[in-house]
Amino acid sequence: MKKTVPKTCQEESLFFRYNYMMSKFFALIPAAGFGSRMENNLPKQYLPLAGRPMIYHALRTLCRSPGIASVFVVLAPGDSEWLRHEWSEFSGKLVVLNCGGATRAMSILNGLKAASDASSIGGDDWVLVHDAARPCLSEAQLDKLMNELADDAVGGLLAVPLTDTLKRSDVSSRVEYTESRKGLWQAQTPQMFRYKLLVDALSRPGSLTLTDDASAVEALGLHPKLVLSDARNLKITYPQDMILAELILRAQQGGYGECG
Ligand code: CTP
Ligand code: MG
Repeated sequence: MKKTVPKTCQEESLFFRYNYMMSKFFALIPAAGFGSRMENNLPKQYLPLAGRPMIYHALRTLCRSPGIASVFVVLAPGDSEWLRHEWSEFSGKLVVLNCGGATRAMSILNGLKAASDASSIGGDDWVLVHDAARPCLSEAQLDKLMNELADDAVGGLLAVPLTDTLKRSDVSSRVEYTESRKGLWQAQTPQMFRYKLLVDALSRPGSLTLTDDASAVEALGLHPKLVLSDARNLKITYPQDMILAELILRAQQGGYGECG
């Protein structure tokens, strides 16, 4: 497998840490959804954002990480949009799998199985599952997750403690009571677990409708670690989320080029 050559001292130490430890790191991007809440005919992972299709941004951050050996992208079997774009800059690490399923968890499980046919991924290797719909993941957030979990027995996820006050409503949208937000976090991605654990967790009955991977691991009685992230790693769900994502990306980029 071709490896990205480290350019700075910090990159070099990450490169050696991740490539010469027992477990390797892989990333998997589920991108087989349609984005029904975006109300656009184009699946949301392809909507233009800061001059690129949305998925480009997460793909770039993951492919540029010296610690990550390969990045698997899971597309819907009938996807006709992927090939309309140029992906050659990622050709050293990118593996495209056309095996998306009916739910996010099915796409991930199908992708994990196909990944083991397409690569040398082993049961103890780490897999970072990251949604195409979170384009603003920064290099710093990614490094923090990998560093904090590299020696962890279970794995974990980026997350943010809740800051808003929480209201429990009745059926007519009136406040029934105020919930305590103590100890409550919002789960983000990447979520990082060992390959075999993730396959086992997602293969259990009931897992395929869960909205994140950590929930499937929790159902095994395990306790994934919450790694402190921040609100910039937002998920794009509704059209208005694009405005904020565009601002965050522009600020992060300091201007990497537009689509040609
Ligand atoms: N996803 C997937 N396969 C599915 C459904 C979702 O790979 N059957 C992916 C999406 O492409 C996205 C991630 O899972 O990258 C998170 O899902 P979400 O934000 O819910 O995206 P969609 O399911 O596409 O959007 P919606 O729920 O609004 O339809
Ligand atoms: Mg969805």
